[in-house]
Parts: sequence; structure tokens; C-alpha cells
Amino acid sequence: MATGMSLVLCMLTFKQDRPRAKYVLWPRIDQKSSFKSIITAGLEPIVIETKIVGDELKTDMPRLETQMAALGESVACVLTTTSCFAPRACDSIDSIAALCTQYNIPHLVNNAYGYVCNTAYILLFYNTLCLNRYFIILY
Ligand SMILES: Cc1ncc(COP(=O)(O)O)c(C=O)c1O
Repeated sequence: MATGMSLVLCMLTFKQDRPRAKYVLWPRIDQKSSFKSIITAGLEPIVIETKIVGDELKTDMPRLETQMAALGESVACVLTTTSCFAPRACDSIDSIAALCTQYNIPHLVNNAYGYVCNTAYILLFYNTLCLNRYFIILY
């Protein structure tokens, strides 16, 4: 199934499980199907702008955590991305997974084409086994 369609189905499932959910926290990635999937699931994207670190655009962790703490149960999930075009770097999925566990918010990882990245792969399996109660990986 197409990545965007799979994302929609995952978010609809989270919505059923979290009746107060309205938002998706989405570290910005300029990829349309990812953005459209949030709208199609009837949710509102809260864009977490990336921050410049050296020559890369990375996840702004403090900004993300502020939103997680403020919005809590009204967040359907944090939607992260592993496969990105430079200068956008892979999201800090290990740290985000730890925050999702802390705030009890599902973590949905868009791993489209991410199987080519060994580091992301290892982190994903580590997260699946150790960190997250709700965790979905899309290949
Ligand atoms: C990050 C990311 N998400 C999703 C997709 C593809 O989505 P879809 O299969 O819905 O067209 C791509 C394809 O380039 C991608 O890079």
C-alpha cells in the first residue's frame, strides 16, 4: 500500500484509541503525501519547524517536547520521518521515542525507503523492543 495511505490508516486507528485526539505533531518534512495523510485522517498538523545544526536541519526537540507537554491527550501521535533529502536530517527517533513513552503519546515513524539506512533500522528495532507502548513503523 502507498505510504500516505498507510499513514492515514495508522492515524485513524490512533484516533479510535484516543477519542480526544485532534492534532499530529509533525517535525517538518517537505514531502506532500506525509502532510496530506494527516489532513485525510481528519487531524490537524502542528508543524514543528526544524533547527539548523551545522549544515543540517534537525528535529527541534525542546519545541517538540513543549507541544507534547501542552497538548497531551489531544495529540493523536508524533509523526516522524527517517528518509529525507539533504539538508533535512533523519528525525531523532530514539530521543523522540523516549519522549513519547514519557508523555504516553503514540509514535508513528514514516520509514519510507528507510530500510537503506542501517542506523535508522537499528534504532527502530531498539525502540520497538524497549521504549514505546504504541509504535508503528512503515517500510
Ligand atoms: C518521506 C516519504 N514519505 C512518503 C513517500 C511516498 O509516499 P506515497 O507512497 O504515499 O506516494 C516518500 C517518497 O518519496 C517519502 O520520501
